Amino acid sequence: MGRKKITVIGAGNVGASVAAYASAQELGDVVLVDILDGIPQGKGLDLLETTPVLGVDTLVEGTNDYERTRGSDLIIITAGIARKPGMSRDDLLSTNVRIVGSVAETAASLSPNAIIIVVSNPLDAMVYTAWKKSHFTARRVIGMAGVLDTARFRSFIATEVGVSVEDVHALVLGGHGDTMVPLTQSCSIGGIPVTKFMSAQRLEEIVQRTRQGGAEIVGLLKTGSAYYAPAASAVQMAKSVLLDKKRLLPVAAYLQGEYGEQGIFVGVPAILGSEGVEKVVEIDLNPQEQAGFAKSVVAVRELVKEVDALL
Ligand code: APR
Repeated sequence: MGRKKITVIGAGNVGASVAAYASAQELGDVVLVDILDGIPQGKGLDLLETTPVLGVDTLVEGTNDYERTRGSDLIIITAGIARKPGMSRDDLLSTNVRIVGSVAETAASLSPNAIIIVVSNPLDAMVYTAWKKSHFTARRVIGMAGVLDTARFRSFIATEVGVSVEDVHALVLGGHGDTMVPLTQSCSIGGIPVTKFMSAQRLEEIVQRTRQGGAEIVGLLKTGSAYYAPAASAVQMAKSVLLDKKRLLPVAAYLQGEYGEQGIFVGVPAILGSEGVEKVVEIDLNPQEQAGFAKSVVAVRELVKEVDALL
């Protein structure tokens, strides 16, 4: 069968970290692509040189040539510009539509059987862009947002309560932005509702911090946005696809009537396997969550309209 082949497009902060985590977990050989001359090659070589130390047998290669990506099992798109302080994810739209559209089209044509995971922002609009330009069936194109948003939520809760992050489970729905809908009712610690561990007010403060989690890091870094947690989140999704693990994770998936919506990618719980999004899992929402989700969908539809005008 041979090793899996993973293409990572964009060798910036997120892309290089994706390549590092994927290689360290021995998920497959990695081809790192960027338009910059020398950067993907240098980072790829540096990462290849980590493999004897880590004891993993994966090849990592950086290139400007898409021919090297031919026949990939998975394509992870991180190309584009990142946020600076004062910018919202939506401010990136027109530049990143152009970039993500072109890289998706080229990479998909060389790897027609791949699954695509999109990380570039504004996420829900970029995953739609990649789907349109790749001409892949919708279930083979997935956006990374919910895993990161819940990772933020889970790490804040675990620190607050003083419990292992492994035992904190959480779900978030909706778009990757200020309208995300953390489902506090389904958040549990070892199966026990989180509300047993803290006041409703404290929980709400943590929800607010989660919503602003990306901006908090942009404010601290000043020259760019988060990358370690976004990369680790994309690699968790990649692992579920490549190893056909069928993890149930919150991802941006194409809706075809689920949650009463269709024609857009938005954050929902889904089972990820070798076919991509193998099932969107529908859960009952309380009226407040339903209203939050509806609002989030409106925001995503606005962005998709802009994308359609640009494509
Ligand atoms: N083809 C390939 N790579 C490209 C292209 C292109 N057409 N255009 C830009 N890039 C590359 C840049 O050269 C750069 O190396 O994408 C990389 C982006 O890296 P960073 O600027 O470090 O940004 P990063 O922090 O990695 O974020 C990338 O992910 O989380 C999102 O919002 C974030 O949209 C942003 C993306």
